[in-house]
This record gives sequence, C-alpha cells and structure tokens, in this order.
Amino acid sequence: MSELYINETSGVDAVTASGSKESPFQTAAYALYVKEDAKLFVYKKDEETDGYVEISASALKKGKKGAESLKKKAEKAKLAEAQKAQKDADEAAKKLEALKIVIKQDESLPEAKKGKIRDLKVDQRFKVSGWIHRFRAQKGLAFIVLRDGTGYVQAVLSGDLANAYQTQTLTLESTVTLFGTVKKLPEGKQAVGGIELVVDYYEVVGLAPSGEDAFTNKIQEGADPSLLLDQRHLALRGETLSGVMKVRAALLRAIRRVYEEEGLIEVTPPAMVQTQVEGGSTLFKVDYYGEESFLTQSAQLYLETCLPALGDVYCVQESFRAEKSHTRRHLSEYTHIEAELAFLTFDELLKHIEILISRSVKYVLEDPVAGPLIKQLNPDFVAPEAPFKRMEYIHALDWLNEHGVPNEDGEQFKFGDDIAEAAERKMTDDIGVPILLTRFPAEIKSFYMKRCSDDPRVTESVDVLMPTVGEITGGSMRSEGLEELIEGFKREGIKDYDAYYYWFIDQRKYGTSPHGGYGLGTERILAWLTNRFTVRDCSLYPRFSGRCKP
Ligand code: 4AD
Repeated sequence: MSELYINETSGVDAVTASGSKESPFQTAAYALYVKEDAKLFVYKKDEETDGYVEISASALKKGKKGAESLKKKAEKAKLAEAQKAQKDADEAAKKLEALKIVIKQDESLPEAKKGKIRDLKVDQRFKVSGWIHRFRAQKGLAFIVLRDGTGYVQAVLSGDLANAYQTQTLTLESTVTLFGTVKKLPEGKQAVGGIELVVDYYEVVGLAPSGEDAFTNKIQEGADPSLLLDQRHLALRGETLSGVMKVRAALLRAIRRVYEEEGLIEVTPPAMVQTQVEGGSTLFKVDYYGEESFLTQSAQLYLETCLPALGDVYCVQESFRAEKSHTRRHLSEYTHIEAELAFLTFDELLKHIEILISRSVKYVLEDPVAGPLIKQLNPDFVAPEAPFKRMEYIHALDWLNEHGVPNEDGEQFKFGDDIAEAAERKMTDDIGVPILLTRFPAEIKSFYMKRCSDDPRVTESVDVLMPTVGEITGGSMRSEGLEELIEGFKREGIKDYDAYYYWFIDQRKYGTSPHGGYGLGTERILAWLTNRFTVRDCSLYPRFSGRCKP
C-alpha cells in the first residue's frame, strides 16, 4: 500500500501530479481513483498541525464514493471514444466505397431528349437541368425535387447512383443535369404532377455550400423581413415569392392582351423628366448634366402627347415616388401601367377601366401556370365582374361618417378632406367589393383634372378601390381648355410652366380633345390578386425608404 498526499488548495487532480508531498492531488476522490488502496494524508493548517495528517474516516468514505463515480465517468468516456472511432472508421470505409462507385452513362439507352420540366412526357428519356429544391438520401435511394423555373419534378436515384459519394454529398440549391425516364407514379405514391423521373445518370454542374454557408442557413422561414430582403436574390427561389412573380408575368401578359384587343398601342416614354405630375413632395431629384431633373412619377403627360400622333396608347413602365411613409402599399419605385384615350366621355373611361381589370383578371385565372397559383395563394379569390359598384366621393364621406370612421384630425369628414389610407381601407373592406370612387374635389387632386360641368367643385376623377389593398388605380378626364390647365398649374403652385410644360400646353393649342386616362399600380393589383399583405412581396427587388439593395 502506498501513501498519497492531498492538498485542497495547492494540489491538482491531473496526470501532471504524482500524489507525493511535493506534488499532491487536490481531492481524496481522485487519489483513490488513481490508487484504490492508498493510504491518504490531508494537508491541514491549524494551531496544532501545520502539515499532513491521516485522512478522517468520514472524509475517506466520501472520497471512496467520489472515486467510484470518477471511475464510471472514465469508463463511459472510453466507450464513447471507441464508438466514435468505430463510426469514423465506418464512415471512412463508406466514403471509400462511395468514392469507388463511378457514375457512367449507359450508352445502350435511347438518346435523352433535352427538355425543361414542363416538357416532360411519360415513358420518354429526358435530359433536364435545374436546381435542387429538396433532397433526401438514404442507403440505396435518393430523392431530388428539381426546379427549373418551368416547374418542379421529383427525381429518384437508386442503387449505385444513390450510394455514390457525389450523391451522398449533394446539397440544396446545387445545379445538376439529370438523365432519366419519366414514369407515371404508382398508385398511392405522391409527387408533383403525378410523375417521377427515374434517373439513370446525372452530372453535378455547381455544388452549393454545405455546413455554415448552406442555403438553409441563409434563408430561414419566419426570419426578420429585413434580413430576408438582404437575401432577396436567394429568397426569390422560394415557392411563394417565385409564384407571385409568375402571376405578375401572367398579369402583364394579360394586360397587354386586353390593350391589344381594345386597340391601344404601346409606347415607352422617358424616365428622366423635368416636370412633375403628382405633386412636388414625392419627386426624386436627378442631377442631369448640371440641370435639375427628376425620375418620372407618371408617364401620363407624355401619353397625352401621343394621342394626336398614335391614337389611344398605353405604357408599362417604372414610376418613382419619394414616399417618406413606410406603408404596406407604397414603394419608391413601382411598375406603372398607364393608358390614355381620346374622344371619350368620363362614363366611357370608367367602363374601359372595368373591362381592363375584369378581363385581364379572367385571362390570368385561365392561364395554366398563374391560375393554379392564385388558387394556392388566394383560395378565396373571387373574380370581379363589371359593372363595379360606383360611389361618389361625397357619398363616401357620408358612409364614413355613418360608420364612425374619423378623418385625419380625428373629426367627422367634411367636403374637401382627403380620405387617407386607413379610412379608405376600412370602407373598402367593409363593403367587400371593387368600388369606382368618383368625383373628388379639385383641391385634393392633381392640376390636370377636368372639373365636372354640373358641379365645378369636383372633378371627373376616379380611384378604383379593392378589398384588402384599397386604391389600385387612379384616373381622370383631363382639362381640355388652356385656361383650365393654367388655373391648375397656379393652384398647385407650379412655377415656370411656360418653360417646362410648353409641350404639354401645346396639346390644348394644336387640336385639343376630350380625353382621359389612368394609372394602375402593378404591385397593388398583384397584392390583391395573390393576397399578399404588402406590395413589397409583389416586387422583384422592392425599393422603399431605407432599402435600395440588393
Ligand atoms: O394615383 P396616381 O398617383 O396617379 C397617377 O400617377 C396618374 N398620373 C396616372 C395616370 O392617370 N396616368 O397613381 C396611380 C396608381 C395608384 O392607383 C397606385 O396603384 C399606384 O399607381 N401607385 C403606387 N404603387 C406603389 N407605390 C407607390 N408609391 C404608388 N403610388 C401610386
């Protein structure tokens, strides 16, 4: 039996200590763990002793217990280490096996037809490329959901193809080219489109990162909206955002189709301008070779100049508004669908707007891609049918007052008050159907609007209001006479109109006409169609105050 020494203050419980008087252990438990039958001496400093004394019976008992648990812990750690070593060895062996598998194309198979996912046909061999949208691998079997913009398809890899190292290390968002035969899914099995691509060979085009940099670490569902906006380029790959963008494309296609049917032609006015259309407070200034210019708020004035040259016209172009308010329906840059029509009455303008909205929505719903997407994104959507409900501004004030909705000062609405966003939405949501809100007072509208002949306080103007978003369209008849136009410039405090608006004024000189038009916010109509909370979700790369990236 040997002697071991313990010093609670200067001792250490580690292999660096020997347990001698010069190099004592710290605890009795550790000393007994090192040598079970050792005789223990504990360092004590008091009046009687200043050195090592034999351990007390109770301390020894406690030490034995501690030694027991240290022993168990050590055994456990040893076992875990052995298991880990075994696992590493297994994995290394597996990797070696997997690396040995060479993926080769079987030349005896029929030639694979290059195609997009939407082209896939049952029982044909295809070569299809895309991004790995979802991935699951197990021994002998791997499933890829491939995405290529035209759709999604489930691909199945089995045997060597699944076990190969290349497959075992695939990551989400990697690009691959798959070769395989399209099969109808057996009863009871589920996948998009009811088909499956049985892969016989594939190549990795670009392997996306794994680990910390993995796609799923960059884009997390429910993450802070501003973080997701920083990663918009990646977030766009998601099913919802890309779905909204596909509906957007179908909507613009449908709008152009209706314009074609209605005989309007497309023009592309400039975006850099020196005139305001919708008030000076939302103008973005541009230094144009030293001259003051702006990013266009609306192409309207230019469209008006096209009427005598081209007849009824439209454009689909970006408009810019330096909106300081952070609301769910305002962007700094948005895609503005605008049209201008000559020789028509206000009532004809309203009917034209109803046709545009109801028919383009019908076309979108009939679209094989966008129709099902709207069902998915907005299952309760009901297509609006013309004629829409019509309501005059003055009657909207009555409605708001009767329903206890206050104006911006917290008071009852009175003639001349602006109907702000919240009040407008409350009314539209309560009424629950599209509304053509007409005849706004001249003072709260732009300089160019034509006054009503039966009540010159108000204008031949219209806002189209939709449940859940509110205003999606603003339009009006335009003042035809020179005097009325000049009065508008003065009312709005627009200076130097002779110098800056001479070309617009000329429209009233060289063959004026009754005419009118409107602007439709693409992101607003889309938010209504796809039931998005904010127009930000309906723009590819939304711009609003504080956000101009990516
Ligand atoms: O009502 P607004 O300002 O009308 C005009 O610009 C007219 N000059 C158009 C014309 O008659 N040619 O804008 C028209 C529509 C609004 O109804 C709304 O849908 C959209 O453009 N809009 C915006 N969308 C997103 N963000 C903003 N900041 C918007 N401002 C207007």
